[in-house]
Amino acid sequence: MQLKYIDDVVFAQAAICKSEYPWYADFISRNQIKKIIEFGPGSSTWAFLENPGLEIISYEPHPKWYETALETFKDFPNVTIRHFDEFIVEEADFVHVDSPPAAGDFPRLESCQRAMQCSTLFIMHDAKRQGERNTSKCITEEDGWVCELVMSNRGIAIFNKNREYDYNRDMFKR
Ligand SMILES: C[S@@+](CC[C@H](N)C(=O)[O-])C[C@H]1O[C@@H](n2cnc3c(N)ncnc32)[C@H](O)[C@@H]1O
Repeated sequence: MQLKYIDDVVFAQAAICKSEYPWYADFISRNQIKKIIEFGPGSSTWAFLENPGLEIISYEPHPKWYETALETFKDFPNVTIRHFDEFIVEEADFVHVDSPPAAGDFPRLESCQRAMQCSTLFIMHDAKRQGERNTSKCITEEDGWVCELVMSNRGIAIFNKNREYDYNRDMFKR
């Protein structure tokens, strides 16, 4: 897949890694995803935008990063930035959970619970960390939800409920 934006993207310390970026772009393409909800705009949003014809709604909890995201994606009418507190339940093909920044024993559990209301397929980034592992366990205790961990640099946990999906199994092989 030809990647248009990757060389211009600034990969912040807390963002998805450059090594994960092509995997995400490919994941969206393979699964014919058209509508995405994400928690935490940034490098991941650019990876999604490598695919044409998407609608992206991205929730940001931090006022400063909210303003930054509005500015960054102002030329993309298909990207809507919303405050985390303005969450709306709506159907999406896929949800990406990468915010709020880690805190407490179950970071991102609230974002994951929101994701479960919107789609039968979602990913939680940073899935190798203990807190995110705790969160994963909570989700898979819910009826029908299954998790698969992809061993990328930071860990990508794919959650689905009776949903088929496909991804590149070779990209992170050593
Ligand atoms: C882990 S970042 C990831 C955002 C996005 N998914 C990415 O790949 O870039 C998640 C949260 O950290 C906060 N944050 C901390 N440093 C940031 C930075 N340099 N740029 C953007 N957000 C940052 C924001 O509140 C953001 O929603």
